[in-house]
Amino acid sequence: MSEVISRIESARKEAESALTSITDLDELKEAKSKHLGDRSELSRISQSMGSIAAAERAAVGKALSAARTELATRYEKAGRELLALRDSRVIEEERVDVTLAASRFPQGGVHPLTLLDREIGEIFTRLGYSIVEGPELEAAWLNFDALNIPADHPARTMQDTFFIEPLESNLVLRTHTSPTQIRTMLSQEPPIYVICPGRTFRSDELDATHTPVFSQVEGLVVDEGITMADLKGTLDHFAKSIFGAEVITRLRPSFFPFTEPSAEVDIFFNDRWIEWGGCGMVNPKVLTNCGIDTSRFSGFAFGMGLERTLMVRHQITDIRDIVEGDLRFTRRFGLGGR
Ligand code: PHE
Repeated sequence: MSEVISRIESARKEAESALTSITDLDELKEAKSKHLGDRSELSRISQSMGSIAAAERAAVGKALSAARTELATRYEKAGRELLALRDSRVIEEERVDVTLAASRFPQGGVHPLTLLDREIGEIFTRLGYSIVEGPELEAAWLNFDALNIPADHPARTMQDTFFIEPLESNLVLRTHTSPTQIRTMLSQEPPIYVICPGRTFRSDELDATHTPVFSQVEGLVVDEGITMADLKGTLDHFAKSIFGAEVITRLRPSFFPFTEPSAEVDIFFNDRWIEWGGCGMVNPKVLTNCGIDTSRFSGFAFGMGLERTLMVRHQITDIRDIVEGDLRFTRRFGLGGR
C-alpha cells in the first residue's frame, strides 16, 4: 500500500474511533471539523493531489472519496442519533405531570362587606330597583336640611358629624346615605325604586360595637299608592333573603325626621329579637323639598348598617374584626380567591 493510501486509512480510522467517545452534538461538531474539516488530514491530502505521482493519483482519489463518503454517512448517522437522544432527554426533563396537586398561592379575598353589598344589590335589582351611589363628602343641606333635620337637631352637633373646614363650606362627611336618596328625587321623576349603598361617617370611637366609618344600604320607593304594607312586604323579602326563610320581621314605632310614620325594623333570628334598621313612610315635607307632588305620590324608605347585618348573620361579636381587614377573618367567610 502506498504511503498516501495508508495515511488516508489511518485518518479514516481515527475519525471513526473519535465517533465512539462522542456523547453530544457539540462534541460531534468538534470532531467533524477536526477529522473532516478544511484542516483535517483528509483535506490536506486532497489539497496535495497535484504532488502525487500520476500513477498513484487515481487510486488515492478513489480511496479519499470512499473514506469521505463513509465518514460522512457515519457522522450523519451519529448526528441523527444524538439529536434523537437530546430530544428525548428534553422531553423527559421538561415533562409536566398534570396530575400533580397544584401548589396553592395565597390569594386575596373579597371582603365580607363587599360580598354582602353585592348580595343586597342582587336582591334588589331582581325586584327592579336601581343601585345609586353618591359622594361621601356631602353638602350639609342634602345630608340634613332636605331630610327635615333642622339646624338644632342633635344629629348635627359635633358628637355625630364630621364637619369639613372651613365650616362655611357647609360640607360634611355624610352621616347616612339618605342624601343620595335626596339627590335621586331631585334628579328623576317618580316612580323611583332605588337602593343607596355606601360608606358613612360618624364621630364615634372605634370599639367593639362602634366604628367612625361604616357602611349602609338605604332603600327608597316613591310611586303612586305606596303604603306601609309595601314597606313591610319589601322588608320581609329583604330579611328572608339575607337571614333565611324562617326569619320574622317586626316594625316598632320610632322617630326619624325624614319619615312619618317611622319605625325600627327588628328581626327574629336565632331565637331573639334584634334591631336591624330604621324605616318609615317618606315624610311629605321631604317629598315637597324635592319637588314631588304629595297629592299623587307617596313613598317608603329604610336603612340598615352592613356591618351590623354581617355581625348578626354570622355571630360576629366585635365590629373591629370587620373593619381591620385581617385576612384570617376574611377567609373564614369563605371568600378566598374570587
Ligand atoms: N337614615 C337613617 C340612618 O342613618 C336610616 C333610615 C333610613 C331610617 C330610611 C328611616 C328611613 O340612621
